[in-house]
Amino acid sequence: MKFFVDTADINEIKDLASTGLLDGVTTNPSIIAKSGREFLPLIKEITEIVSGPVSAEVAATDYYTMRKEAEVLRKIADHVAVKVPLTPDGLKVCKELSDEGTMVNVTLCFSAGQALLAAKAGAAFISPFVGRLDDISYQGLDLISDILRIYENYPDYDTEVLVASIRNPMHIIESAKMGAHVMTSPPSVIRQLYNHPLTDKGLAGFMADWEKSGQSIL
Ligand code: G3P
Repeated sequence: MKFFVDTADINEIKDLASTGLLDGVTTNPSIIAKSGREFLPLIKEITEIVSGPVSAEVAATDYYTMRKEAEVLRKIADHVAVKVPLTPDGLKVCKELSDEGTMVNVTLCFSAGQALLAAKAGAAFISPFVGRLDDISYQGLDLISDILRIYENYPDYDTEVLVASIRNPMHIIESAKMGAHVMTSPPSVIRQLYNHPLTDKGLAGFMADWEKSGQSIL
């Protein structure tokens, strides 16, 4: 499973990139607004830290303006994935950009039917929002399994399932069990994956015993 981080915080991105485990970055207009930074230079800076896909979202909703914005975004770097909303105009932009070899991340997916459309439009990534479905008392993870099942039936679809709106480590683990290709989560949830109380307890025991042995490796 590829790990993307859903943030525009440069320090967080640098820190996670230094682990060698980070495969890409996703942003959205809310994340950009929260950063307080200017959008285009910020995306450029992220592309210089991470060599994998960096999602940058259009801010318009009509076809012509989205298309123009996409031209600006894809010129930032070859590994920018232009993010478009799952609307008829968004998918029209997706099809054109994908045909021209640009990665497109189709966002705000809440149904398997929408994911089918995105695959047909040539999306590099479909972003189903599991947390927001959970928030309204649906099983967000059921959507992931439905989409994967549908895509498996059509090996000519190149679209990767990018599990988004992740709220906790179980969203990542369950999606990985299903074979989802990518997940994007806040930095804090990625860090939670490291943690287990038995790891802490075991390490404390090993260190105490080593101390008693009086030895040193270096
Ligand atoms: O960036 C898309 C998605 O990950 C947003 O998540 O937490 O705003 O539902 P959230």
